[in-house]
Amino acid sequence: MADLQNVLDEIVQEAAECADRGVVASYIPELAKVDPDQFGIAVALPDGQVVSAGDAGTGFSIQSVSKVFTLTLALGKLGDGLWARVGREPSGNPFNSIVQLEQEKGRPRNPFINAGAIAVADLVLAGHQPREAIGEILRFMRQLADDDSIVIDESVAHSEMAHGDRNASLAHFMKSFGSIDNPVDHVLGVYFHQCAIAMTCRQLARAGLFLAGDGRDPATGAQVVSSARARRINAVMLMCGHYDGSGEFAHRVGLPGKSGVGGGILAIAPGKASIAAWSPGLDPVGNSKLGSAALEQLARRMGWSVF
Ligand code: DON
Repeated sequence: MADLQNVLDEIVQEAAECADRGVVASYIPELAKVDPDQFGIAVALPDGQVVSAGDAGTGFSIQSVSKVFTLTLALGKLGDGLWARVGREPSGNPFNSIVQLEQEKGRPRNPFINAGAIAVADLVLAGHQPREAIGEILRFMRQLADDDSIVIDESVAHSEMAHGDRNASLAHFMKSFGSIDNPVDHVLGVYFHQCAIAMTCRQLARAGLFLAGDGRDPATGAQVVSSARARRINAVMLMCGHYDGSGEFAHRVGLPGKSGVGGGILAIAPGKASIAAWSPGLDPVGNSKLGSAALEQLARRMGWSVF
């Protein structure tokens, strides 16, 4: 096996030399302030060791990467009944698209597009107060990352709330079909706060380790989900984790992955590693440009593609 630390150092070097770094998300004003020259990568291994390079200790807004963890929580509450509310097919549309919602009677295509994640937030909320659901999500992230210092960036949450008309539209539209049980403002409060969780690559890679370990956190021995459920979450990540760029990511990287507009990507090499890459500049679909390129290199050099 190639020496992992050397491979990561080379990837950081290549990223530093890259002039075309994509475009930082600007529709959430707080994210537009982030320095696009940053790049970090971290790999959590089955023994819990985390190997990293570049800005892997710098916190960033995990945004849609949070949807993997709220899906995990909601599956824990509802079991496979969740799939009656949210599909598991790729949408082939942008992450914030509304078109299929009308055609498919308010049932979002998958839990990773915004509509699907808002429907999942409704299931996590389940009649509780938003602050209780937000606390539950944050505790889950801290437990998985084995790090109590993880926090929510309130300025990002408020920035999203102040510019969240599209998400509010999606939520109200679903509510009109009866697909949302709780008050829309409560559901959006949970959704915006989960997206505003700030984590480093090292923390995020560690938090995803259970998905690389058949549902079991190999470092602590905790069974987070069953092995069947871990396989299925990975399958949805592979098919839907990069929106209408999911085919491209599977083609280039060959790993289940989930991106966020903060520029983070969590990728899972089952049985081998949980990987977090971060660079704020995005491609036109909204996925980290250098993050995707880094994962392509890493999977190729380590022989980690699932195919
Ligand atoms: O709701 C939004 O638009 C953002 N909070 C999250 C979108 C996102 O991360 C899409 N990922 N690439």
